[in-house]
Amino acid sequence: MTMDATSQRFLMCRPTYFAVDYAINPWMDPTAPVDADLAIRQWERLRQIYRDLGHTVEEITPVPGLPDMVFAANGGTVIDGKAMAVQFRDPQRADEAPAYRAWFESAGFEMYDPKHVNEGEGDVLLVGDHLLAGTGFRTAHASHAQLQEVFGYPVITMQLVDPRFYHLDTALTVLDERTVAYLPEAFSPGSQAVLRRLFPDAVHATMADAEVLGLNAVSDGRHVVLPAQATGLAAKLRDRGYETIGVDLSELRKAGGGPKCCTLRLRQGKASK
Ligand code: ARG
Repeated sequence: MTMDATSQRFLMCRPTYFAVDYAINPWMDPTAPVDADLAIRQWERLRQIYRDLGHTVEEITPVPGLPDMVFAANGGTVIDGKAMAVQFRDPQRADEAPAYRAWFESAGFEMYDPKHVNEGEGDVLLVGDHLLAGTGFRTAHASHAQLQEVFGYPVITMQLVDPRFYHLDTALTVLDERTVAYLPEAFSPGSQAVLRRLFPDAVHATMADAEVLGLNAVSDGRHVVLPAQATGLAAKLRDRGYETIGVDLSELRKAGGGPKCCTLRLRQGKASK
């Protein structure tokens, strides 16, 4: 089986000021040591992997005092040339929102402002012609209606139930326009039923894979970049015909983030999608 890779444009933020100074998810322990230099080297490796795959990586200038700004997926939702800015649940991350907003504006995206808590593509995943939108920990359910209004894709609410998998992109990976991988037990029974209905052929991940943030993966439709420690999931993906590329982001994981969190896909208008 051969699968087509589509070349992508990503936004990333160098973890220059990365640290774990506060705890807003169960992965974060401000008393545990973090190797800041190693975090930068691991992030640079991720960026190199994308470049080697032929993707374009844009960078936003990191801001001192915003240690989680490296998690660009939370900077916005960008589809068809429209960018919806974010509103963070936690005050520690609030100042990231205007920094990302300014970047989208200067890059020429049509801007929309959030009316409710919305943590961008951490909780919003485009699969084909549908948006899956997470809620339960961060993004407010009320923001799902606004996402549908702004982008004009049907929005399907996904109820997250395990605090370790607080953003949708820690519990579910989009593999291509029709297929996803996910951890069933990270979702409410109703959301699990919806996922079975929409994606009967989905890859089911195990807790062991999810616990190393294996589902925080980036796929171009053919290559899947995922945490190197998620070996079981990688094997299942290879069985399905994907090429897997493991990356070690051990330091960023101490903040609860993996490769997908560090990566925001910039989707232009339909013509150049
Ligand atoms: N420490 C960050 C937070 O808790 C991690 C964000 C991870 N981002 C993501 N897209 N899952 O907000």
